[in-house]
Amino acid sequence: METTIRRGDDFHTHLREGEMLEKVLPFSNIWGRVTVMGNLSKPVATAHDVIKYRNKILQLNPKFIPIMSVMLVNSATPEILRKTFEAGAKVLKLIPGGASTNSSEGVGLENLHIYYPVLEEAQKLGMIFSGHWELATNPLGGEEISEVEREERAMPYLEKIIASFPNLKIIVEHATTKGMIEFVKNAPANVASTLTVHHALLTYNRVYHCDGINPFNYCKPVAKFVYDRKAIVEAMISGNPKFFFGSDSAPHLPERKRGQNPAAGIFTPAEVALTMLTEIFDSFGALSELENFISMSGAEFYDLPLNKDFITLRRKKWTVPKDYNGIVPFMAGHELKWKIVK
Ligand code: DOR
Ligand code: ZN
Ligand code: ZN
Repeated sequence: METTIRRGDDFHTHLREGEMLEKVLPFSNIWGRVTVMGNLSKPVATAHDVIKYRNKILQLNPKFIPIMSVMLVNSATPEILRKTFEAGAKVLKLIPGGASTNSSEGVGLENLHIYYPVLEEAQKLGMIFSGHWELATNPLGGEEISEVEREERAMPYLEKIIASFPNLKIIVEHATTKGMIEFVKNAPANVASTLTVHHALLTYNRVYHCDGINPFNYCKPVAKFVYDRKAIVEAMISGNPKFFFGSDSAPHLPERKRGQNPAAGIFTPAEVALTMLTEIFDSFGALSELENFISMSGAEFYDLPLNKDFITLRRKKWTVPKDYNGIVPFMAGHELKWKIVK
């Protein structure tokens, strides 16, 4: 059995820099366009950073089409943002301070109001405000919030932004809870969400075990409970244009994955993501919705033309490699049911 779909896009990925960028870039090139997150060791935050990072990517592959993002950092101003837009940035990315990798310069959710002029500028320019909506510590007492509660605890802040910026395109990146899926469904049309493959497959007990964390299933936001996973899959296969694909592929060197505190992030090469998604959609008899999720809804939200070429997949077993250029992928060593043939 075969299925042919329009080429898709990945609206959330971490390509990193330096050697890691060289290692992982080839494994994104099945996608037409890729939103490249800028949480580098020095965050992508100015026009100069945008140009420099895009050039680095294009030097390695001139045919690659990155959609550039800038991070909302403490030094952000409307003027700096406008210049990044003129330099080609389309996405303003929120990683609240301390929420994840290289986020120490990020703006905390409780301080978002200070950056309203920046968000106003983003709204005016038609940029997308893409957020990692998690509250990691309680702004009042300073105590840490449990990983499973962080997404729900960010919702009041998200609500405020939606109410204050009715024309700002807002993405809830990698939604992981039933509550957030419902929230996005009920929000106005300018609010959408990316969904990852790993959150469609994992639950908390495949990340945390009594003997520690499985580092290759560990990411932020952490995978939640069975009912959350079900809500994610239902949203994916529903055809609702508010939900589209963003892998949140986040590679880390094997040594960063070892030990007591493994780095958060799951590496999802395009061939793994695409074939795994096909398997999920097929298992629900929903292959006809695959193209909406991977190739149409995101492009429409981003106001991009649809990709013009097509990819054919065949129901044929293959095994996910143990590593890609030394980086362990999601589902390493697992047998998957669909293979890309053309
Ligand atoms: O698990 C994660 N890893 N979540 C993020 O939001 C960032 C990412 C990374 O950059 O490693
Ligand atoms: Zn994130
Ligand atoms: Zn991410």
